Amino acid sequence: MKILLLLGSPRRKGNTALLTEAVIEGIHQENSHHETELIHLPRLDIHPCIGCGTCEKEGNCIFADDMQALYEKIDRARRIVIASPIYFYSVTAQAKLFIDRCQALWSRKYILRQRHPDHARRRGYLVSVAATRGERLFEGAILTSRYALDAMDCSYAGELTVPGADSKGVVGKRPEILARARQFGRTVASP
Ligand SMILES: Cc1cc2nc3c(=O)[nH]c(=O)nc-3n(C[C@H](O)[C@H](O)[C@H](O)COP(=O)(O)O)c2cc1C
Repeated sequence: MKILLLLGSPRRKGNTALLTEAVIEGIHQENSHHETELIHLPRLDIHPCIGCGTCEKEGNCIFADDMQALYEKIDRARRIVIASPIYFYSVTAQAKLFIDRCQALWSRKYILRQRHPDHARRRGYLVSVAATRGERLFEGAILTSRYALDAMDCSYAGELTVPGADSKGVVGKRPEILARARQFGRTVASP
């Protein structure tokens, strides 16, 4: 099974990166045959969606950038994990650039009525971390990710959220959080 993890934090070795690494460990603990691929979204060239509507007619995006390879990777994956810290109660701009370009996939599903042949077995998840602890801290990111994953024709299957982590790499010093992330990875990898 192919599992695609899309990392939206621009901070190298930051909290989301460490959580995602632990999720990948958990995936391989559950099943060493699963193939994981980690994509660093901030390193890619992704043009913002301009709402031109071409994808509504053709199912494809006009921009020939790194998103084209990502559409294919999304197509081949049976699990997709969006991983982003909270920036102003949502995902990062880099993650949102990617998500907005999933409009082409939304068009395929809802306008052109093309379902993914494996849609019944595809699942998607969110991994997120934030500095503060408010009750509604992750709501924006969860909603955005849920509907992005729906456009990718995956059913939304849950989230790993870590509040109260701000300085770079602090989750690496919290074994209980890393254990939760590994457990989450096992859930992602489960049949
Ligand atoms: C531009 C920006 C906006 C942020 N907005 C929030 C926020 O709305 N709520 C919050 O709790 N933390 C916020 N944070 C803190 C980050 O979520 C936190 O530092 C997180 O650990 C960063 O994860 P990373 O190391 O994976 O990049 C913000 C940080 C930045 C740089």
